[in-house]
Amino acid sequence: MRALVYHGPGKKSWEEVPDPMILTDTDAIVQVGAVTICGTDLHILKGDVPAVTDGRILGHEAVGTITEVGPGVKNVHPGDRVLVSCITACGRCRYCREGQYGQCLGGGGWILGHKIDGTQAEYVRVPFADNSTYQVPASVTDEEVLMLADILPTGYEVGVLNGRVRPADTVAIVGSGPIGLAAILGAKLHSPSHIVAIDLATSRLEAAKQFGADITVNSGDDDPVARVMELTDGLGADVTIEAVGVPETFELCTQLVRPGGHVANVGVHGKPAMLHLEDLWIKNVTITTGLVDTYSTPTLLNLVASRHIESARFVTHRFCLDEFMDAYDVFSRAGETGALKVALSRH
Ligand SMILES: NC(=O)c1ccc[n+]([C@@H]2O[C@H](COP(=O)([O-])OP(=O)(O)OC[C@H]3O[C@@H](n4cnc5c(N)ncnc54)[C@H](O)[C@@H]3O)[C@@H](O)[C@H]2O)c1
Ligand SMILES: [Zn+2]
Ligand SMILES: [Zn+2]
Repeated sequence: MRALVYHGPGKKSWEEVPDPMILTDTDAIVQVGAVTICGTDLHILKGDVPAVTDGRILGHEAVGTITEVGPGVKNVHPGDRVLVSCITACGRCRYCREGQYGQCLGGGGWILGHKIDGTQAEYVRVPFADNSTYQVPASVTDEEVLMLADILPTGYEVGVLNGRVRPADTVAIVGSGPIGLAAILGAKLHSPSHIVAIDLATSRLEAAKQFGADITVNSGDDDPVARVMELTDGLGADVTIEAVGVPETFELCTQLVRPGGHVANVGVHGKPAMLHLEDLWIKNVTITTGLVDTYSTPTLLNLVASRHIESARFVTHRFCLDEFMDAYDVFSRAGETGALKVALSRH
């Protein structure tokens, strides 16, 4: 088969590799129908994730058809169309039993395209297939379900649910990339009074408006703290969601939050950020961090199937599987190309 293979920092190719095989009795093999690229894949290609080594097939988001299962797989069968989630779950360890699949101790967690070969290929081996795949209703398209592999559960669980968004809240979301936009869609499910989107890129703020932010602030030429304070009678936002991953935006979230409010960090940080306890100690704020667990996937899948979440709107560019190199090029130049998510499909 062909696959997108990482060959060390800055190097990747779409090349011929051996087909994956069932290695343990809980594995399934999935023929990839559609697959996407994540910002995390770009981090890997920069060399920021040293656990990913030369020869690794990238990718942790896909939808496809089961072609083969090990004898221990009971829930899914050859021919089933399934979502392959970014998080794999053994189902048996302490964390899996608490629904914290991202922290799986039994060999799961974020492993696809990280510790084992991933989804950017014609076929992928999915360990613990019963707990790591989701059957897809026929009414939901490949592109719609693909957005549930990572971005929608991440924005919803780590942003909206960790941030405890409640009806009538003012929610300030810093960063309007796919994750920030997913947080906007997730926040809307809880009827907030206002969703304030903050970003430096006009094109991303435009997208934020289309996804449902009623107020956008370009923090390059406007003061988001002043805007949010005006909106909330000087109190601050009930919930602030960090969806960038740099120290400034985390610190901004802690300035934007009201006393008693929640700061939900979603961004992946590579550097320390300052925690201003000299200001925050008196404010009763709750700060959460997290890797997505994907416990909300069944709920989100129902919301997509019932048309309460329009997930296909993330897809700005479409390719065939063998156009992977072009797709990476377009996705990595999102500032120029306006890419949010790219979808690569078989055929
Ligand atoms: N916690 C998790 O489980 C998890 C899962 C997936 C992704 N992530 C992380 O979420 C973050 C967002 O992901 P994404 O795919 O949307 O990324 P992205 O790069 O597409 O979007 C980031 C956005 O932030 C904006 N931005 C950059 N610097 C800014 C600043 N100083 N102020 C305001 N806006 C700024 C950019 O213009 C861009 O629109 C990343 O750090 C990613 O690694 C976390
Ligand atoms: Zn991802
Ligand atoms: Zn586990």
